[in-house]
Amino acid sequence: MRILIMLLAAFPLAAADVPHAYTAVHCGTLLDVRTGHGISDAILLIEDGKIHEAGAAARVRLLHNETALDLTQATCLPGLIDVHDHLTSDPTDSGYKSLGLSVPRKTVKGVKNARITLEAGFTTVRNLGAQGYSDIALRDGIMAGEVPGPRMQASGPALGITGGHCDNNLLAPQYHATSEGVADGPWAARAKVREVIKFGADVVKICASGGVMSKGDQPGAPQYTLEEIQAIVDEAHKLGRKVAAHAHGTQSIKDAIRAGIDSVEHCSLIDDEGIALAKQAGTFLVFDIYNDDFIMHQGLQAGMLPEAIEKERQIGVLQRENFQRAYKAGARMAFGTDGGVYPHGENARQLTLMVKLGMKPLEAIETATVNAAELLGWEHSVGSLEPGSFADLIAVEGDPLADITQLERVKFVMKNGEIVKNELRPLVKIVQ
Ligand code: ARG
Repeated sequence: MRILIMLLAAFPLAAADVPHAYTAVHCGTLLDVRTGHGISDAILLIEDGKIHEAGAAARVRLLHNETALDLTQATCLPGLIDVHDHLTSDPTDSGYKSLGLSVPRKTVKGVKNARITLEAGFTTVRNLGAQGYSDIALRDGIMAGEVPGPRMQASGPALGITGGHCDNNLLAPQYHATSEGVADGPWAARAKVREVIKFGADVVKICASGGVMSKGDQPGAPQYTLEEIQAIVDEAHKLGRKVAAHAHGTQSIKDAIRAGIDSVEHCSLIDDEGIALAKQAGTFLVFDIYNDDFIMHQGLQAGMLPEAIEKERQIGVLQRENFQRAYKAGARMAFGTDGGVYPHGENARQLTLMVKLGMKPLEAIETATVNAAELLGWEHSVGSLEPGSFADLIAVEGDPLADITQLERVKFVMKNGEIVKNELRPLVKIVQ
């Protein structure tokens, strides 16, 4: 008798009696980001946060009891992806100001920025570098439904050499400041890979060359050696994690590609040989070209080091030129902005810039959807709206293929089948 009651409690209704929890999103146009084809009058049928069916309204078989969202005045497309973000940092946290911020304080900033980023239409991000595993805590809080934010892959602290871009070089020796990701030599670097994975990293971030925002180094100069990068990549891949390399410098970009890196971040001083190597290896290049605008115009007021502004002056224009060369050469690209260097939520401005520099709007959108999803290894769940993928989608009022700036004004955001933002006020109706 007791067992029977428990079973009844566990299965209060027979499966057939349970009303289907379907949502039908009715879009004026649904953009297929793989082909650029716009399906007009399309329906996305969503069940349990996933796409069940998608296509022309006439062809999608509606069941019954769907909640229908009327987005017929809008264009729907997959939620955007930024593969290089720093949600737990703000532009004002740079230079000496960074020393006054605790890890918990940064985590709280992460909560704020996760919401801003999601509402801007970025339903997935890869966070590449954060102090004190604040990014891992944020990822887990979002995943648990405690705070709103994009789906996240997070790296924890970035690995780097002593005195390099990913070390803290701001304080005099008596303070003994060393960043937690510092590891010199192949075996120490392997141990650090194991450590970040132990504490929750989905992906490993390394600083292969010098950087802009760091004190006392040069973006063009190599930092990790080829041997160290090889050890890191080997260890990370063995443990099922991809590796992203910060590399502005010509030599470091090539070293990273030769070592089997999965993506090169920044790529500022890449040369033709580096582009050819990347194409041959299928390495994703991630050019954060929007950053230069913010650093040059507002960096000093935001508290960035004067030397950072000077370094930016040296590489910013070259990075944009090399982006154009890599694009023309047909290199694989994924969309990453280094959010946090500029204010969160402005991510899509980089799409506009990419188009200004010669990319076709569809190609720019692909870098932030299907290509980015592939780099993340999440190509079956994000970056496109196909049966089985997460119902992560956005809607804009105009045609983003005709006007890419539409993506700077995302009006509707859905993540996992739930409405996150809605400025379209769709008529909600129950389809009988
Ligand atoms: N985090 C990078 C660095 O400090 C930012 C580089 C920004 N500049 C650029 N042109 N993308 O090196």
